[in-house]
Amino acid sequence: MKVEKERALQEHRLRFGHEGRIYAAPARVNLIGEHTDYTGGLVMPMAIDFKTVAVVSGRQDGLAVFYSANYEEEVSFEIASLSRAASGRWSDYPAGVLWSLLEAGISMAGCNVSLMGDVPLGAGLSSSASVEVATAMALLGHSGIELPLEKVATLCRRAENEYVGAKSGIMDQFVVAGAVAHRAMLLDCRSLAFELLPLPDQVRVVICNSMVKHAVATGEYGNRRDEVEVGQDILRRERPGIELLRDATLEDLEVCKGKMTEESFARCRHIITENGRVLDARKALLDGDMGKFGELMVLAHESMRDDFAASCPEIDGLVRIAMQQPECFGARITGGGFGGCTVNVVRADGAERFVETLKREYSTSTGIQAECFVCAPSDGALELAAKGGVS
Ligand code: GLA
Repeated sequence: MKVEKERALQEHRLRFGHEGRIYAAPARVNLIGEHTDYTGGLVMPMAIDFKTVAVVSGRQDGLAVFYSANYEEEVSFEIASLSRAASGRWSDYPAGVLWSLLEAGISMAGCNVSLMGDVPLGAGLSSSASVEVATAMALLGHSGIELPLEKVATLCRRAENEYVGAKSGIMDQFVVAGAVAHRAMLLDCRSLAFELLPLPDQVRVVICNSMVKHAVATGEYGNRRDEVEVGQDILRRERPGIELLRDATLEDLEVCKGKMTEESFARCRHIITENGRVLDARKALLDGDMGKFGELMVLAHESMRDDFAASCPEIDGLVRIAMQQPECFGARITGGGFGGCTVNVVRADGAERFVETLKREYSTSTGIQAECFVCAPSDGALELAAKGGVS
């Protein structure tokens, strides 16, 4: 479904009887820097042209009413008595954002919020951060409050961590809120300082959905994070000056090898080497060396597969097929892992052929029809003009 601004505004008007203000937040893909964010590391995501729109209008009864056009369902919350009570459903994301804003002392008047989105679910493209940031923009706009990017991202992350119960890092919410068109974002997840990096015009980013579903809110993501945190605690105890895994070197890790499980050791090794690869990837981009950038992507994939144990056979197959194509510089798993999508950097003039071959060969080897998207770096969240403007 392509989200149309006029349709979203009209549905809101018909359902709630009021004109609304409309906000949009994109999805994201991570070029390199996986599972580094929650230990203060480096990531290099960009926003992509899928989005969630949120239309907001006021109401007088102190309720926050959320309607999802995708789920065709409406839920209401009494703002004055909203408690942290996740239901395991779509509404946890907008309700979680409302809760997080209230917890931060932001007062909120009654409101209707309609949500409509075209971000593929469970594909590792951050459908959840897209809903969170769109909701936050709408609720803040409704209250007449403007917050800096870091604050919006942090409040949305809190919703995801504490209300929804997914232990994710800051990458998704930050890039979804703050991305800039035509640029990838190098984000330092400890200081939240970021640098916008140009992608050469001669390349395209192709996202390929393996159609193997992943869910950050459950299972393996949390297990990996626990294994990482155990390793990080040991490093912190044993090596002065280490506060986060971000501060550790491979030598530090080697010294602590006997004190942690093989799993924790391998997970930490992935993160330490991945932080280094992000810096090398930055240099490759600034040098315009896409060959080098691609090599780093493949190393990052191997590290996610072998040290982080977060890939799956279908995704490995997609990377293998991609790397056999002459127009492909690099390919890797992207996002939380355990399925979802690959991200591929390919020559612009070969992008179409690349997509055809990848789909055909993946279907021949697995029987699965992959979905591929040729993407350009998009803008982060913004308010759309109610009449005309961006659609
Ligand atoms: C998910 C999380 C992010 C990040 C990635 C892995 O997308 O939401 O915070 O940890 O996985 O890089």
